[in-house]
Amino acid sequence: MNETQEKTPLEELNVDGVVIGVYDDLSAQAGNLKEYLTIGKFEGKGGQKRLLFNIDGIKAPMVAVVGMGKKEEIDLETIRNAAADGVKLLRDNGAKSVGIASLGDARATAEGVFLGLYRFDELMTMNSEKRPNLEQIIFSGDEEEIKEWLIGKTIAEAQNFARRLGELPSNIATPTYFVKQTQEAFKGIDNVKIKAFDEKWAEKEKMGAFLSVAKGSDEPAKFLVIEYNGGSEGQKPLAFVGKGITFDSGGISIKPSANMGAMRGDCSGAAATIGTILAIAKLGLKVNAVGVAPLTENMPGGHATKPSDVVFASNGKSIEVENTDAEGRMILSDALVYTEKTFDPHTIIDIATLTGAMVIALGEHYIGTFTRDDKLWEELKEASYKAGEPFWRMPLDKKYRKQIESTIADIKNTGGRPAGSITAAMFLAEFVERNRWAHLDIAGKAWSSSEKGYKPKGNLGVPVRALVQFAINHQKE
Ligand code: BES
Ligand code: MN
Ligand code: ZN
Repeated sequence: MNETQEKTPLEELNVDGVVIGVYDDLSAQAGNLKEYLTIGKFEGKGGQKRLLFNIDGIKAPMVAVVGMGKKEEIDLETIRNAAADGVKLLRDNGAKSVGIASLGDARATAEGVFLGLYRFDELMTMNSEKRPNLEQIIFSGDEEEIKEWLIGKTIAEAQNFARRLGELPSNIATPTYFVKQTQEAFKGIDNVKIKAFDEKWAEKEKMGAFLSVAKGSDEPAKFLVIEYNGGSEGQKPLAFVGKGITFDSGGISIKPSANMGAMRGDCSGAAATIGTILAIAKLGLKVNAVGVAPLTENMPGGHATKPSDVVFASNGKSIEVENTDAEGRMILSDALVYTEKTFDPHTIIDIATLTGAMVIALGEHYIGTFTRDDKLWEELKEASYKAGEPFWRMPLDKKYRKQIESTIADIKNTGGRPAGSITAAMFLAEFVERNRWAHLDIAGKAWSSSEKGYKPKGNLGVPVRALVQFAINHQKE
């Protein structure tokens, strides 16, 4: 799809269709547009949409009208969804070229457009005529709006990159594939260094926890590190650490077969980590940042770790593997130790589809956030709400530490049913020393069961937007 920007007013664009946002009082509308909307009982509520034709004063034959709600209450989520609904309506009705202007915020408009148009259909070889595609999209705006539009486009494309990696099945998106796709995506971007370590390296690093998961699979594990230096030399980096289980069968503590396939998405934290650094680097943000992703399958092979096995993590702590399905915390423990000692980061944020208990606690509307640092929490909260990927703070309280005490090792990797997400976070806390660390359990929000607005059915690539916003805000510090 070809994307361009112009200063030509939207009404004069020579395209098949344009998107028009309408507030709920319809007052600004005139001519046959107002008449048609009234006949069609269009009230301008958020989420409403109508396809109209041959509107007075608009050159394009098709007009997608999208409701924006109350003007005083307009927010970025409404804009993202309206932009997505508008372009999708035109696309699905045969338009090949569309025009759009800022719906109140050019960045959110772009995010809505490019996130909304994303579709995961690359593995389908049949019936492509039933999945129409746009050939051209033109943004109409002034210089300042065009700048913001391009920022939104970059962020959305990075999030789509994360969605895709999270969505791809595990026979294709192996750890090795993750590495290759990352090298490909970062090609030609300045100030980036990519390293991909193998299991031999992990052995030298004494990453017994990471390797205890990789052992059960024949697919080679990888430990991916992306460094971006856009800030001043010596400035401590923001570090993102993502869980990259390309398939979670549970291992010897094998999962039930129903819906096990969803566990191809257990690498969503790693995908979001790579997507976040990709956007930060493409935007050329004035920060230093690193992305770290331990990548492996969790399988019940002949060499697999068995329940009650004891392994040693790279900080020397011994772990009793009570349940091999609690593998995310195992690979993250070594990744957190490595990140802290290698980069001495300003802040560490880990991102993981870590616990089923998180889905039970918060469902699909909030990302559970664990941190002891009140200021970091405020920063994350602000960035997440602005990005439309809201975080909710969860307790990280020493009282829960008792649940992961082991009788044969320093700790065990499960803490029983009560507060399963919190005990998982408490486990991770054993492997981080600094206070400015946050753990994001994205298990509930990583994928969506239905398509709505800019969200597809399937992997959402969260929280790329929130983390990029966090990095944008950090530039001012
Ligand atoms: N990847 C799963 C968590 C998960 C479940 C994410 C459902 C998204 C949807 C994780 O590795 C896991 O299996 N966790 C166990 C931990 C338990 C064995 C302590 C869980 O939540 O059941
Ligand atoms: Mn698991
Ligand atoms: Zn898992």
